[in-house]
Amino acid sequence: MSDSLNAPEAPQPAEHAPGEHIHHAPGVSVRHTRAKGEPRFPDGPRADPAGSHFERRIRSFQPRRSRVTAGQADALQRLWPKWGLDIDGQQVIDLGELFGNGGPVVLEIGFGMGEATAQMAAEDPGVNILAVDVHTPGQGNLLNLADQNGLSNVRVGNGDAIILLREMLAPDSLDGLRVYFPDPWPKKRHHKRRLIQPEFLDLAATRLRPGAIVHCATDWEPYAEQMLEVLDAHPEFENTQADGGFAPRPAHRPLTRFEGQGLDKGHVVNDLLFRRVQHRVPQSEQHRQESPR
Ligand SMILES: C[S@@+](CC[C@H](N)C(=O)[O-])C[C@H]1O[C@@H](n2cnc3c(N)ncnc32)[C@H](O)[C@@H]1O
Repeated sequence: MSDSLNAPEAPQPAEHAPGEHIHHAPGVSVRHTRAKGEPRFPDGPRADPAGSHFERRIRSFQPRRSRVTAGQADALQRLWPKWGLDIDGQQVIDLGELFGNGGPVVLEIGFGMGEATAQMAAEDPGVNILAVDVHTPGQGNLLNLADQNGLSNVRVGNGDAIILLREMLAPDSLDGLRVYFPDPWPKKRHHKRRLIQPEFLDLAATRLRPGAIVHCATDWEPYAEQMLEVLDAHPEFENTQADGGFAPRPAHRPLTRFEGQGLDKGHVVNDLLFRRVQHRVPQSEQHRQESPR
């Protein structure tokens, strides 16, 4: 694949969406004031796709007002109508229609700036990646990378992955789930914000096909231990590792931006690979199936 996935973004023409801080040159930022009610990107992702009625009390992400470069703004305007998905909780998505092929679909939650996502999509064109984040600059960056590298197997979701899973994905519709370097929420009082919890796994299990792989990675060791504990305890998942521990880093997972930052700080990275078990046949059903007709 092209080196442009990892290359820093080239300087872009000074097109921008209203209301954005646009970087024209290092250290120079121009503010264009947006009128009240004016959308951030008229054809781009919606500011709050699900609306307040879907508001969850505890969220695994911190809403942040982020600067968007001219190149990202251009990609959001140009490519969102084609490859973007607002997570509004309003309809169940037909994934075959979304990707335009019948290929397997893997959900990636929290792609950040999307470099690793684009690399995986390029290296495995037969697998569709539904990549979800709330981070607007990252959405623009991933759209740009997909465009520059001719990737037709990436769609970019904007919003809370919990709403996507709960309201917009059909049972057994996913062939895999990737959660790379989720926010570690290190303070004890914030642990409840961590994504990988028993309730999250209950929901994810219903959307994953039997045999689907859940792949998590983190550089925060206490969170890695928590992931191992809750995945291990969950009846719908089994560890792919015979020794019941962490997995060696699979070759298909590229180094991510947050991983690089963690490694620079001397953190240890752990991967976890769990499989969605076959649906258990309820006892009554088992009896019916075993009885001679
Ligand atoms: C620490 S960053 C890691 C980004 C990337 N995977 C990497 O390794 O560089 C975690 C990302 O997950 C996103 N995130 C957290 N919870 C989310 C949720 N419920 N739905 C969508 N995105 C979420 C955050 O916005 C953030 O961009």
